[in-house]
Amino acid sequence: MKARRIAVWNPKGGVGKTSVSVNLAAVLAENGLPVLLIDLDPQGNATQWCGGEREAEPGRALLSALLDGGTLDAIARPTVVGSLDIVGSGPAMYNAERHLAVEPIAPDTRLRGLLETAGARWEVIFVDCPPQMGRLVTNALTACSEVLVPIADAMSLAGLGTLVQTVASIQRHSNPELRIGGFVLSRERERLRVARDIRKALSDGFGELVLGPSIHDCVAVMEAPSHGEPVTRYAPRSRAASDYRALAAEVFAREVAHGEQARAGH
Ligand SMILES: Nc1ncnc2c1ncn2[C@@H]1O[C@H](COP(=O)(O)OP(=O)(O)OP(=O)(O)O)[C@@H](O)[C@H]1O
Ligand SMILES: [Mg+2]
Repeated sequence: MKARRIAVWNPKGGVGKTSVSVNLAAVLAENGLPVLLIDLDPQGNATQWCGGEREAEPGRALLSALLDGGTLDAIARPTVVGSLDIVGSGPAMYNAERHLAVEPIAPDTRLRGLLETAGARWEVIFVDCPPQMGRLVTNALTACSEVLVPIADAMSLAGLGTLVQTVASIQRHSNPELRIGGFVLSRERERLRVARDIRKALSDGFGELVLGPSIHDCVAVMEAPSHGEPVTRYAPRSRAASDYRALAAEVFAREVAHGEQARAGH
């Protein structure tokens, strides 16, 4: 069976892409699912968080696999969360955009080719994307079945026009299967009026694509990376940990519903 492939992307920086990728992947893995997290961002934040940066030259293995071919089996590493593996990134990946820009053959399907080597080893694959639009993001959107969009504040709404256009263009040209899986409020301060305004603006524009469970602003989410653990392990009783568990349940339930709709031909 082909893994469910989720790209986490918003072209605005610092909106919670890495926090959502790591914590959601971890909750699913804590529930026993074999999960792979691919850090596609040369900043390597997810990799540092999960302890995957112990490569001699972080990002080199992923870069070579994208440029010269390789298998996920060869470059995936275990993390502290039992069934969560990671493909790490780091500074070597800053060269990826430059190399892919001059690659004459299939520059946007390199990640898709790599994901096809996964076989049945993982049930869910998350791709933590860099913010800026470029070949790495087009590779992620061409390889994945859905995109999950974190929204942290009013400024994270600004890039949504770019996001919607990019998703439509990828659907048309290279990946008809791609859909927006949902918008997640990744750092909600529900008592603030602006937070209610953001939820309303999103609901007006995207209706049911706005996921019900949001992640509250919670210091444990900021602290967890320096302890090398997802928030559900670092602070299992924190509000953010229970938010992430609820979000995982909803993301999982939506997939089941989507599969049933697709089978019924809707
Ligand atoms: N629910 C939350 N509560 C508190 N802080 C949060 C929450 N979610 C994310 N943050 C913090 O917000 C900052 C940005 O988050 P993160 O690195 O996940 O964003 P990003 O979109 O991946 O950034 P980039 O675009 O640079 O890759 C981090 O310091 C993170 O700890
Ligand atoms: Mg990030």
